[in-house]
Amino acid sequence: MKILAAVDPSDTMHLPVKRAAEMAKKEGAELTLLCVAEVVEDLETGYGARVTDALRERAAKALGAAQAVAKAAGVTAKEQLESGVSPEDFIVDAAKKGHFDLIVMGTRGKKGAARLLLGSVAHKVITLAPCSVLVVR
Ligand SMILES: Nc1ncnc2c1ncn2[C@@H]1O[C@H](COP(=O)(O)OP(=O)(O)OP(=O)(O)O)[C@@H](O)[C@H]1O
Ligand SMILES: [Mg+2]
Repeated sequence: MKILAAVDPSDTMHLPVKRAAEMAKKEGAELTLLCVAEVVEDLETGYGARVTDALRERAAKALGAAQAVAKAAGVTAKEQLESGVSPEDFIVDAAKKGHFDLIVMGTRGKKGAARLLLGSVAHKVITLAPCSVLVVR
């Protein structure tokens, strides 16, 4: 069994990662952590490139923190860092290409509007995923 945990770069709690790691440990499954640095559309200027660097750095830090959460649950995960405008595309593509059995993610990020029950990335992944999706609350 292969589990893909989607790591929100703005998340510091990493509850979905904790759940995914606990499940991987119990099932003897392979766990991969995927974090997509969300770049802005206009990257023509040098300013855009610097913003991208900072966002990649933040995503790398989030992956490191998520890995620590996985290790605390007794699992060493693979890590995947991507940059792009639409995180959902990378998550769905990674699940397809890697033949994952399950995607684990959160309901909302930190920056998301509180009135929304489900963030847009979660919504799109649930709609487009090639496998089951566990949305952790
Ligand atoms: N950049 C990302 N890389 C990897 N996973 C992500 C990323 N963004 C969101 N996710 C996954 O999607 C879950 C829900 O976040 P989502 O982005 O849908 O909510 P939101 O931030 O509240 O909404 P929105 O982004 O639409 O404002 C996160 O807990 C995480 O599992
Ligand atoms: Mg979001």
